[in-house]
Amino acid sequence: MPRTVMIAGNWKMNGLSADLGFFDTIAPVARASAAEVLVCPPATLLAAAAGRCSGEAILIGGQDCHAEKSGAHTGDISAPMLRDAGASHVIVGHSERRIDHAESDADVRAKAEAVLAAGLIPIVCVGETRQEREAGQAEDVVRQQLSGSLPGVSQNSELVIAYEPVWAIGTGLTASVSDVASMHAFIRSALPEPLTTRILYGGSVKPDNAAALLSLADVDGALIGGASLKASDFTSIIEAAGR
Ligand code: PGA
Repeated sequence: MPRTVMIAGNWKMNGLSADLGFFDTIAPVARASAAEVLVCPPATLLAAAAGRCSGEAILIGGQDCHAEKSGAHTGDISAPMLRDAGASHVIVGHSERRIDHAESDADVRAKAEAVLAAGLIPIVCVGETRQEREAGQAEDVVRQQLSGSLPGVSQNSELVIAYEPVWAIGTGLTASVSDVASMHAFIRSALPEPLTTRILYGGSVKPDNAAALLSLADVDGALIGGASLKASDFTSIIEAAGR
């Protein structure tokens, strides 16, 4: 069974209701694509986006969740709430969460398990910093993140991994095609279910570099920040997926 390519947009802390027309623009391209298209808007837009995309080939996801189902956690959102609002996937362990909110691997694992328990699919992010790469530690760091952040083996069937080198996020720098190829092969070799688990690349994916990255055997899609905010860029990347 070939792995279906996933093209996922992460809007981060961007987007107002005036931006929902984005979904009407990308819908025909998503419908025509063999790729699975996912957009993770801010939580404030999730229900409206899901309503707008109902019947379309666009999935909607959350950007983070709390590990508990409910409780006294002001400002937090749980996985069942995201599901209720129309999400099918939740990003967990994005480097901006790991850095801005001091999330540990154990926190990320608890969130990933909460996502699975809610019947949703976690997209677990891993990736090294520039210093770690320059010190030759990229694989060790990623191995450690995987072993600490992934949920229990028996629950892994639909899991998605996103390899996002921290230094490539929002910087316009991308890892070289050969570095991406070797890191993705390394990640696959470290996964409990290597044949079915999809591994996305993230970090300054743009219309002009998407085809080269997506052509790599172990790259099963892309997680896209900046270029997912502009419908024309995002649709070009969906078209570049082409398999
Ligand atoms: P970027 O973000 O495409 O803007 O580099 C990627 C991400 O953080 O998922």
